[in-house]
Amino acid sequence: MEHDPVLVAEVTGFLGPALERGGVVVDATLGRAGHAGALLEAFPTIFLVGIDRDPVSLEAAGTHLAAHQGRFALVRDNFSDLTSILERLGIASVRGVLLDLGVSSPQLDEAHRGFSFRDPGPLDMRMDPDADLSANEIVNTYAQADLEAVIRDLGEERFARRIARSIVSRRPVTSTTELADIVKEAIPAATRRTGPHPARRTFQALRIETNAELAELDAVLPASMDACEPGGRIAAISYHSLEDRRVKRFFVDEARGCVCPVELPICACGAEANLKLVTRRPVTPSETEIQRNPRARSAKLRVAERTSAVSPEGASA
Ligand SMILES: C[S@@+](CC[C@H](N)C(=O)[O-])C[C@H]1O[C@@H](n2cnc3c(N)ncnc32)[C@H](O)[C@@H]1O
Repeated sequence: MEHDPVLVAEVTGFLGPALERGGVVVDATLGRAGHAGALLEAFPTIFLVGIDRDPVSLEAAGTHLAAHQGRFALVRDNFSDLTSILERLGIASVRGVLLDLGVSSPQLDEAHRGFSFRDPGPLDMRMDPDADLSANEIVNTYAQADLEAVIRDLGEERFARRIARSIVSRRPVTSTTELADIVKEAIPAATRRTGPHPARRTFQALRIETNAELAELDAVLPASMDACEPGGRIAAISYHSLEDRRVKRFFVDEARGCVCPVELPICACGAEANLKLVTRRPVTPSETEIQRNPRARSAKLRVAERTSAVSPEGASA
């Protein structure tokens, strides 16, 4: 089973100025290595560190990258551990970091992983099959109010209360399709008939909670910035607004520099911007790409470049 990588030409193009002269690039969401392979092809002198917490993805990626033997290192870990991963590899700084967030097509399509509401499977949804928390535990043991909060906040689902109440009344819920049916029945009939599958938002919420996706993202963004040498670039592709908002806020905040009140005639804080925005608006896939790969539809790419800001202590920040 393949994963059709999204916005490949755009990622390669935006990372180009940073990678043309070689150096280390991190693909923190290696998946099936579609982007990683394209980067290794496009920039013959780079070395790639590929990270994924899913051992199945890592194995497939290793096979996919076989032709580039000696030019990459693959690491099974959470990307929030980026700083210590690079330390362990003896890498002091990098020229680029790619974050292609979320799950891959094979993860979604393999019913036994429990990500899909269309095919019967166990309530699992763990990217790392050895992780402690699975969707089963969330669905069957969270207090109703906590379950409601997860579905509302991480799924942006306005019927979260009704859905959480129905789930709790039908416990134990054991399969993905059983859960999808419960969600469908819990929402008003008129809503059921329009828009995407009624369980989509609830499944998104459970997946994000199971894999602590927002906490992971909040940790990897500053770690990526710290790892980049001046001129190094971070490219982040997100697939829903919760992710994109976080990426945007981080990039904009770090590109702001001075944090003095606007009333001050001159800067007193001395803060310098750590990042420069390379994309002011998110880059999205073309209609042709979306037609070929419908999963690209929601993708948004943002890119920022590390500046040479110097910390107040005088050390390179
Ligand atoms: C959208 S896929 C990436 C696909 C990849 N760009 C390709 O071309 O095949 C995201 C991948 O990142 C991994 N992943 C997501 N969050 C992660 C995290 N916090 N730490 C490590 N891996 C993560 C998933 O297991 C999945 O394989």
